[in-house]
Amino acid sequence: MKLIVVSNREPYVHRRTGDTISVERPAGGLTSALDNVLKTLNGTWLAWGSGSGDREIVDNRGRVPVPPSSPAYVLKRVWLSPNEVDNYYTGYSNRVLWPLSHLTLDRVYYRRQYWDSYRRVNQKFADSIVEETGEEEVTLWVHDYHLCLVPSLVKQAAPSVTIGHFWHIPWPDWGTFRILPQAKDVLEGLLANDLLGFQIPLFVKNFMNCAKESLDAGIDYVSSSVTYNGHRTLLRAFPVSVDFAFFDAAAASKKAYAIRRLKEHLGITAEYIGIGVDRLEYTKALLKRLQAIDLFFEKYHSFIGRFVFIQVAVPTRLSEPYISYKKSVEGLIARINDKYSTAAWKPIVYITTKIEHRDLALYYRIADVAIISSVYDGMNLVAKEYIASQSDEKGVIILSEFAGASEELIGSLPLNPYDIETFAGNIKKALLMPVEEKRSRMRALREHVKTNDLRKWTGDFISAIEGCHRELHGAEGGMFLFLDYDGTLAPIADRPQAAVLDKDVRAVMDRLRTVCPMAVVSGRMLSDIMDRVGIKDIIYVGNHGAEIWDGTGIVPGSDGPVDTGVLDEFKERVSSVLGDVDGVVIEDKGRTISVHYRNVDPRRIDRVTGDFRRVADGYADRLRITSGKGVLEARPLDAWDKGDAVSWILRNFGAGRMPVYVGDDATDEDAFRVINRTGVSISIGRNIHAQCYLGEQAEIREFLEWLMDKTTK
Ligand code: UDP
Ligand code: G6P
Repeated sequence: MKLIVVSNREPYVHRRTGDTISVERPAGGLTSALDNVLKTLNGTWLAWGSGSGDREIVDNRGRVPVPPSSPAYVLKRVWLSPNEVDNYYTGYSNRVLWPLSHLTLDRVYYRRQYWDSYRRVNQKFADSIVEETGEEEVTLWVHDYHLCLVPSLVKQAAPSVTIGHFWHIPWPDWGTFRILPQAKDVLEGLLANDLLGFQIPLFVKNFMNCAKESLDAGIDYVSSSVTYNGHRTLLRAFPVSVDFAFFDAAAASKKAYAIRRLKEHLGITAEYIGIGVDRLEYTKALLKRLQAIDLFFEKYHSFIGRFVFIQVAVPTRLSEPYISYKKSVEGLIARINDKYSTAAWKPIVYITTKIEHRDLALYYRIADVAIISSVYDGMNLVAKEYIASQSDEKGVIILSEFAGASEELIGSLPLNPYDIETFAGNIKKALLMPVEEKRSRMRALREHVKTNDLRKWTGDFISAIEGCHRELHGAEGGMFLFLDYDGTLAPIADRPQAAVLDKDVRAVMDRLRTVCPMAVVSGRMLSDIMDRVGIKDIIYVGNHGAEIWDGTGIVPGSDGPVDTGVLDEFKERVSSVLGDVDGVVIEDKGRTISVHYRNVDPRRIDRVTGDFRRVADGYADRLRITSGKGVLEARPLDAWDKGDAVSWILRNFGAGRMPVYVGDDATDEDAFRVINRTGVSISIGRNIHAQCYLGEQAEIREFLEWLMDKTTK
């Protein structure tokens, strides 16, 4: 199945300056989140070609492979005239829908020409999408408020396309939404989607109320769906998130000298640091934030000379009201700096150039407090990025109650940005918070973001679209069976070589594969797992997802070229520390280094795992560490996990089928996350989270026989 993603903003912008073309990545939550997703899922991303050098490096269909350094997917650019940019983007999108959705109603400025252009540009995007659809089945993933009419336009031209839409910003209540002159048209456009996702349940509810009040639509609050003109749209909340592992590793890998260098670069010697990272955007309440900082110094003199606030504010919208807003922000910063600066210190460091994520992690890490003061916000990824970057669990986050993220991020200091007295007090509270309290709050926050990371968001959304796809295309029926090997098909043994597949289990698998497609998914090397199972005509996944045998050849499971050099180096280091320890077996699986410690004297296990982790800490920015039963493993960050492999298999071989996955340890949970909405996850024992479980490994044969029985009846 082919995936097409469409948004207004493009992930890579080419700029011409003199003789050279450079590439930039725009700031903003949408592109931050989606670029990572596309790198894993491949597919084509359609977006407005907004850069001065964009036309020079595309093929004759407007396409260019990206990321430029190691292409993983195709960016197809849609060209807009300056007039369209003024009316569709600056006008209807940014001066009507944006302020309306963010409840800043006095900023709504509507002109008829905006809407005319919006309709034409949506048609242009729809035509460009339809051009990309061929014989293959297509899933279209639309993003945000710029493209409300695209779903209905595409459905009219290509009814078989399954369409999911994610709305990144808030959806207002009916009392507010009814202000929009085109309320009905916008709702009708969106109700051609098969799936419509919002950040939090409140926005789902608001949307349903709008559909109820404005259209003669069937509203089902129980199944959370709206039926309009005979078409059903499923509505769900999918809180968007960040790549926790990336920020965590990037922050943790920075040593003391990097921290020193950054502070020197910023000219900061103060004891306490605060940070705000935003697009230059009035909904982030930068002025209120600055007023609170002014008040903070006014009320708490002792912090003069001891606290510096770094404000990163990157302009992305270059017209009114942003030009005036920028002037006001800069004016206020200058006034505060004038008012309090001393010879050796100034309170606010102001940065307007975009900082890339790999560097941003260090900015987050050096900050004792992050301030997110949005007057209203769909989610706010900066909040989650800050948390993911607190590898030393030291920071405190002050978070507006009006950001979608505040629903999830329990442990942050809640903030009403309109109440600058309490705001100023909260800054003091954050800075003086006892270390233990900071740690326990941050630990809980990190656990939450780690579990609910970007992969989960993507997995949940894609699984839900797949569910819609099955409904739309009439389920082909049947299931797709995924089976883990060690601990699931075969009992855990003392040595990896000793885990053998029982011949009766093999026999029932051999029968089952004739009635439903099957994949064995293992952490072992691909060749090893294929030999051990020895059944033809099924799919095999090795190295936890990093290698797939699809029946005809080996598919590399990774988001880019895998750095195997780092594995060799890691193996050498870990061998020099643990190679001689009794009971430790170090296994090189090509794409994974596994350290088995099942046979180590129990009294020494903590030492072994501690030594392993100390070596692994030095590789945090290049290797992903996982632990299984009696084993610790290291894999390159780009290598796929079991969830990625299962998604790939389902997309390529499992259309219309319900995934059923049986596994027994933490690495299988990556797959559970991918299938939980559309399939069934089953664990052996109750050590991991699954929807159902078998009591013990020995029950697997009986279970497979039962499945065989059910499938053939
Ligand atoms: N961002 C960045 N560098 C900067 C400023 C912002 O990469 O210098 C990114 C930031 O890391 C985050 C995104 O822009 O991923 C902002 O997303 P958020 O959801 O916080 O707000 P939005 O801009 O989408 O309203
Ligand atoms: C938010 C919106 C996105 C938008 C981004 C940056 O995240 O949800 O749709 O792309 O802000 O805004 P810009 O107008 O620069 O694309």
